[in-house]
Amino acid sequence: MLRTHTCGELRLSDINKEVTLSGWVQKSRDLGGMTFIDLRDRYGITQLAFNDDTDKEMNVRARSVSREFVIQVTGTVIERESKNKNNPTGEIEILVKEFKILNESVTPPFTIEDNTDGGDELRMKYRYLDLRRNEVRKNLELRHRMAIETRNYLDKLNFLEVETPVLIKSTPEGARDFVVPSRMNAGQFYALPQSPQTFKQLLMVGGFDRYYQIVKCFRDEDLRADRQPEFTQIDCEMSFVEQKDILDTFEGLVRHLFKAVKNIDMPFVPHMTYADAMKYYGNDKPDTRFEMKFVEMNSVVAGKNFKVFDEAELVVAICAKGAAEYTRKQLDELTEWAKRPQIGATGLVYARHNADGTIKSSVDKFYNEEDLKAWSVACGSQPGDLILVLAGAEEKTRKAMSELRLEMGARLGLRDKTKFSALWVIDFPLLEWNDGDPNLLASLAGRWHAKHHPFTSPNPEDFELLKTNPGAVRANAYDLVINGVEIGGGSIRIHNKELQAQMFDLLGFTKEEAQKQFGFLMNAFEFGAPPHGGLAFGFDRLCSLFGGSDSIRDFIAFPKNNSGRDVMIDSPSEISDEQLKELNILSTIIK
Ligand code: AMO
Repeated sequence: MLRTHTCGELRLSDINKEVTLSGWVQKSRDLGGMTFIDLRDRYGITQLAFNDDTDKEMNVRARSVSREFVIQVTGTVIERESKNKNNPTGEIEILVKEFKILNESVTPPFTIEDNTDGGDELRMKYRYLDLRRNEVRKNLELRHRMAIETRNYLDKLNFLEVETPVLIKSTPEGARDFVVPSRMNAGQFYALPQSPQTFKQLLMVGGFDRYYQIVKCFRDEDLRADRQPEFTQIDCEMSFVEQKDILDTFEGLVRHLFKAVKNIDMPFVPHMTYADAMKYYGNDKPDTRFEMKFVEMNSVVAGKNFKVFDEAELVVAICAKGAAEYTRKQLDELTEWAKRPQIGATGLVYARHNADGTIKSSVDKFYNEEDLKAWSVACGSQPGDLILVLAGAEEKTRKAMSELRLEMGARLGLRDKTKFSALWVIDFPLLEWNDGDPNLLASLAGRWHAKHHPFTSPNPEDFELLKTNPGAVRANAYDLVINGVEIGGGSIRIHNKELQAQMFDLLGFTKEEAQKQFGFLMNAFEFGAPPHGGLAFGFDRLCSLFGGSDSIRDFIAFPKNNSGRDVMIDSPSEISDEQLKELNILSTIIK
């Protein structure tokens, strides 16, 4: 070993010990007869002291090292004269007797400090240097701990971790596939799994009644702060279970993680139907750290000659507690914010419930004091509150109000990253009409699309509706939402061959197409498939939630940027004509 100790472990109790440390030079200070170097490794920083009195020549050599040189020293642990209480090793230093440069370093392009001067793109290009920073390291340590605790919990419950293949055939999960050409099978392609969905179901047919896997998934979709083209799931499946069993088991996993990793006792997770989530929050993943529920106002505001409200499909309000003191300027700015194309409101009406009990609105021309009292009653406003109202086409207005609610929550400090509020959203619609979703293949437009995936079982109470009104069928599906983030989702699966065939039919697959793409699954269902169901958590999202960050990139060692590029290894990149030819791509393109 090139060290006896790490740079984070020596204390006053180690005084007089002879030790050898190795690490990177964080910084050095030249005080003439003495040189001090802060030596860093993964575990901490220890101060090294070089003294002319000990070895003048060595002190001269110590002065020549620069930031990020890799060095090895042997010396004695001594008590420091001026102690640094902010550093766990700050009461001691190493009086160096032997010193070796193990490797030199060019000047790094940004400082390896907590407050680095490196911008995002630069740090991604030199991610291996960024990884030396405390923050990034701590995030990956958290990720490691989460993985270990996940395995501990699931192992105790008899779940088996089984690896499933990465070169597979397309499974539709709502995104495009990444594909890999096969050299040995000219003109044919593997798909990378969007999730191990079909394999975990086949494992159930294979009798592995409790499966999990911490697994990479690949989706070619638009990227955002919480979406990467390759990401990790805690993927799980169970046989002989109903929805309640799955929710209980995995609520248990999340509760275990909160306790083990953050020492937080998570309360019972409430259930909310999809319909209620949309009605009260305009969103299927509501942030329930704060209330501010939607109040539908059509009947309250009708008949006062205010055309905007009278003609609107939906008039919806929220009550922002304690915001009546917003100035005119702030409200104008908020109105402009709501009118941005990303939000899509056509305007914003407000009513201040003043501290003296009076209510004044931006539409006083149409609504008198008495009318506004009715607004207040409907919204439950108190003196000091601000009522915000949007109106227009139903879907668009709900969406805009959902954004406005989140924005007001943030502005009023109600979205505290150290507070956690979880819920299960249940009873999702089984299908949604695809009007031309840009994340899906164009050929899938103008037909039903499975909201979760095509293997999800309809709610048994709605079986009849499958034939008469497919859009109204509820799925036996559920999502776990924490702080407005979809952390995971799953469903009870179809395990009956006929029902699965009916589902493919509804989704617009011909019998032949269904057989070609999913024959393996339907065939397996002929051999005694057990009733089964499961879910998958987004592991990166779970880690970033625990770490208090909005971006999953912070919790991935080597992430991609928003254009799906790894700027460090410069990928994706072109391949040679020779490779293309071998992979039969040139001939495929020409064809
Ligand atoms: P679903 O598609 O809902 O379900 O995915 C499960 C969870 O994975 C996370 N997730 C992502 N995280 C980062 N980047 C992405 N691009 C990304 N896409 C999804 C989310 C999501 O809730 N096979 C089903 C699960 C099942 O039915 O058992 C599935 O994959 O947190």
